[in-house]
Order: sequence, then C-alpha cells, then structure tokens
Amino acid sequence: MVRRMALTVVLFAGCIWCLALVTTADSAPSAPGGGPYKPVASVRGVMTGQMLAFKQLQTSLAGTKDVDRPVAIQLTSEALAELANVNTYNNEKEDYRGWAGQLRDTAMELAGEAKKKDNADEDKMKSLLAKLEATCKSCHDAYQ
Ligand code: HEC
Repeated sequence: MVRRMALTVVLFAGCIWCLALVTTADSAPSAPGGGPYKPVASVRGVMTGQMLAFKQLQTSLAGTKDVDRPVAIQLTSEALAELANVNTYNNEKEDYRGWAGQLRDTAMELAGEAKKKDNADEDKMKSLLAKLEATCKSCHDAYQ
C-alpha cells in the first residue's frame, strides 16, 4: 500500500515537471502570431508561391472575360503582393528590398485595376503584368 502511494507521488511529480518544461518552452515554433514579423518559410518556398500566383495571373489575363475573371485577378494579385511583402523581410540589402517592395506595389496596383470590373483598363493590366515580370527578372539577375 505504501509502495503504491510512493509510486503515485513519483508519477505525479513527474507530470508536474513535464508540464513545467512545456510551459517554459517559450521559444516553441508555434508561438501565437501578432508579434514583430518573422518569416517562417524559406525564400524558395516564398518563390514557389510567387511563381504559382504569377502563372495564374498570366492565365486569367489571357482568358475569356467571364464574370469570375475580375475577382480572380484581384485576389491572385493580392496574394502575390503579400508574398512580395513577406519577401521584403528575406534580405537586408536595400536593392533587394526595393525590388520586393516594387513587386508588392505593382501587384496591389493590378488588384486595384481588376477591382473596377467592367471598367478595368485591359492595356493597363497587361502592362502591369509585364512590369511584374520585369521586376522578377531584375532581382533574379542580382540574387538568384
Ligand atoms: C526581391 C528579389 C526577388 C524578386 C522580386 C523575385 N524573386 Fe524569385 N527568387 C529570388 C531569390 C533570391 C531566389 C533564389 C532562392 C534560393 O535558391 O534560395 C529566387 C528564386 C526563384 C525561383 C526558383 C525557386 C526554386 O525552386 O529554387 C522561382 C520559380 C522564382 N524565384 C519565381 C519568381 C517570380 C515568378 C517572381 C516575380 C513574380 C520572382 N521570383 C520575384 C528573389 C526574388
């Protein structure tokens, strides 16, 4: 009986110790968001997202003008803009941040144009797409 109680106490103490370990692990990767920004993905991961968004934009802009097209262009451009925004944190060099920031701003401009739906300027959207591509190339020429 006494041995059983001793065992219970040991197990209980062990649990408390484990809990203390878990709660003091404040550097855990799953810390809640909202603090100072810190990217979690590799640059290649961010680039994979940028490439998928960019290809989707090319397809949407070349595609037929059905009812879903403006919102598809708008939201895909916003997704690309946010990835570029993240990318501004991936390098401390001024020119790198400048290109990432330019990609973000151009993508937001494209999103804003697409938002005009029937009144969106097709030529402007196509030249913004070309500007996006030129920005990818400028940064790649220097950093890829
Ligand atoms: C501000 C700089 C910058 C901009 C702008 C940029 N990239 Fe990149 N990109 C990089 C760097 C740096 C790498 C190399 C990453 C590595 O190998 O670690 C890269 C690599 C890539 C890769 C190869 C990923 C792999 O699997 O190795 C693709 C695809 C890519 N970029 C697509 C794009 C597209 C599409 C755009 C424009 C919409 C773009 N990037 C704009 C910096 C940039």
